[in-house]
Amino acid sequence: MTLESPPTVQQLLAFYLEAGVDCALTDEPVNRLSDPDLMPAAREAAPAQPVRTVPAAAPTIPSARAEPAAPEAAIQSAREAARTAPSLEALRALMETFDGCALKSTATRLVFADGNPQARIMFVGEAPGREEDLEGLPFVGRSGKLLDRMIAAIGLDRSSVYIANVIPWRPPGNRTPTPQETQICLPFIQRQIELVNPDVLVTLGNPSTQTLLSTREGIMKTRGRWFDYDTGTRQIRALATFHPAYLLRSPSYKRMAWLDLRAIAKALEQAKS
Ligand code: URA
Repeated sequence: MTLESPPTVQQLLAFYLEAGVDCALTDEPVNRLSDPDLMPAAREAAPAQPVRTVPAAAPTIPSARAEPAAPEAAIQSAREAARTAPSLEALRALMETFDGCALKSTATRLVFADGNPQARIMFVGEAPGREEDLEGLPFVGRSGKLLDRMIAAIGLDRSSVYIANVIPWRPPGNRTPTPQETQICLPFIQRQIELVNPDVLVTLGNPSTQTLLSTREGIMKTRGRWFDYDTGTRQIRALATFHPAYLLRSPSYKRMAWLDLRAIAKALEQAKS
């Protein structure tokens, strides 16, 4: 039997990149296979240790590692925190200190928003990518450039619109956020929309549309359709359209996106009068 030659460093890096591993989490490498705390399965498989009994009232020793809160507790604490934020600045400040979402520990920084908080129109995407994570601003990469062109097509720019994401921390390797992560972040974007209070809300792509407009239908069915978004204090007109990253991959849908942009421009005109 012949052993295959070990992969070169380039081959290994290419493998990691393809698997979505495109950033280092810490400066030092960690051998997670040798850390029993990180290997619950190995711990379970280990021979049973004699059971030690402790007095019922013994104080619990806090874990050295900050554990993310259980999903239900994290969702609840995000709801309470978001509700108490009286302004966008306060919301940003409390999100900076919120530890309930594990994505925060792998992201470089919070990507809160870009644009004008007084804007009459707000665009919401899914989650920051690599460039956004590095710059701390939403939609600054390739799809952001296309979003800028879409916004320019209705006579606006970043100084007259407000842009944010459902998830404010980059998922590692740009993976899809889990439903739990989305539920934990949802109260924050909901409060952000309420505080910006735009006349028109535009959801970009399927995840943002399904999460914010509470629909299970896909973007092919929802795009171009008007929804009522209820902030709790007001109804806002909301339109779903394609995500610019999708339009980059499927340019033939730009024609439909153009129709959506015309509808948005018309709604802004109507809301003025
Ligand atoms: N895609 C998104 O959904 N949001 C960004 O900020 C960038 C890319």
